[in-house]
Amino acid sequence: MIVGIDGPSGTGKSSTSKAVAAKLGLRYLDTGAQYRAITWWMLHNGIDLTDPAAIAAAAGRPEIVSGTDPAAPAITVDGQDVSAPIRGQEVTSAVSAVSAVPEVRARITALQREIARQAQGGIVVEGRDIGTTVLPDADAKIFLTASEEARAARRSGEQGGRDAQSLAATRQALARRDAADSGRKTSPLAKAGDAIEVDTTELTLEQVIECVVTLIEEKR
Ligand code: C5P
Repeated sequence: MIVGIDGPSGTGKSSTSKAVAAKLGLRYLDTGAQYRAITWWMLHNGIDLTDPAAIAAAAGRPEIVSGTDPAAPAITVDGQDVSAPIRGQEVTSAVSAVSAVPEVRARITALQREIARQAQGGIVVEGRDIGTTVLPDADAKIFLTASEEARAARRSGEQGGRDAQSLAATRQALARRDAADSGRKTSPLAKAGDAIEVDTTELTLEQVIECVVTLIEEKR
């Protein structure tokens, strides 16, 4: 059972994907964490992130290993656990520029397909291009959406900033990242033609999880 869950930031993709994988006894892969990990490595190795040729030349250098336990999906780069630092502002601001480079996508996509192929009993893979590019033959494809306002409110809440100023800043950063991810040439953020769209704006996390589990079970 291969499940692809795509959508923009702040739709509850990660929380939903992990919970759904745990409920259904499947492995779990966070592909955003892989793009964040390669970005973290580039930042720490002085790669010029304004130069796509420099990013392309370095794309094959770091060794990235993704854990697939939905309860503890750790990720390492060259043996170092980077699960925490890849969530920082520096990586979040830089990741869209790195993930837009075709050589980076080719490398990470190959890793993702290999992990999905080896997953015993099936896997939930979350990202932006899983249904369209990485695993077009997935057994179930879900595309999560939510209004920009709801997504910004969730992200801002996660980061502890609930005041109007931090909400506005989060909304702006989110819109910028989504525009970059949707507008890039190589496998942009997009809904696959055969994906089922779930608008999470008015739903609680528990309702989204229940809805996605039901959709997957219908395909089993
Ligand atoms: O999901 P998350 O916010 O951690 O993703 C970080 C970034 O990784 C995205 O903004 C996007 O640039 C990139 N990404 C991607 N393709 C995927 C998953 C993530 O380009 N399948």
